[in-house]
Amino acid sequence: MRTSACIFDLDGVIVDTAKYHFLAWKRLADQLKIPFTERENERLKGVSRMASLEIILELGGKSVDERLKEEYAILKNKWYIDFISRMTPEEILPGSVEFIKELKANGIKTALGSASKNTPMIINRLGIGYLFDAVADGNIVKNAKPDPEVFITAAHLVGIAPGRCTVFEDAAAGVEAALNAGMLCVGIGSEEVLFKAHAVVSGLDEMSISRLKEIEKNI
Ligand code: BG6
Ligand code: MG
Repeated sequence: MRTSACIFDLDGVIVDTAKYHFLAWKRLADQLKIPFTERENERLKGVSRMASLEIILELGGKSVDERLKEEYAILKNKWYIDFISRMTPEEILPGSVEFIKELKANGIKTALGSASKNTPMIINRLGIGYLFDAVADGNIVKNAKPDPEVFITAAHLVGIAPGRCTVFEDAAAGVEAALNAGMLCVGIGSEEVLFKAHAVVSGLDEMSISRLKEIEKNI
């Protein structure tokens, strides 16, 4: 097999937190009277907290000083944490645990590659730390997706060359990041948004080692 390590984005791939990011940003956008729907939210997926805020302010044609930006980001994160601190293991997306266990049983390394600074809290809340050999997240990475840094860091942490890593991503910016890292990329979600990925599936419940081998054959 080409793949020796699988790197998973967290929000929207392993756990259904993408909706909470949206709801928290929506609350801020409403307060600032900036029109913001699921459509615009697509641009925020995979993007760091500050970069997301900048997109929202740009949508509203607002320019604010750094101090106010900090305040807005803190507020959004507080609302987001209110949601994730109540999360239960039922919010782990279907098929994730089974697929990751299958990979590990077959000697394939597994890692998380997420922009989120809240990654440790989510891992602990859901008790999923044992599934990953390494975690690269927003706390150790400087450059946001589509920069490949988070995936290159994850590959380095598990000791596998980027060319032998496969990334699972639900965000267009994340697909770009994986391609920029020279990795195989499987999109999780809709073909329309993730068309640059090597293959797109609706969720990890569609994945297995045999499916991964098929995808590798077709690239
Ligand atoms: C990504 C999400 O995983 O993490 C983005 O897709 C989010 O929506 C980013 O902005 C940063 O997350 P956090 O938890 O550090 O604000
Ligand atoms: Mg995501």
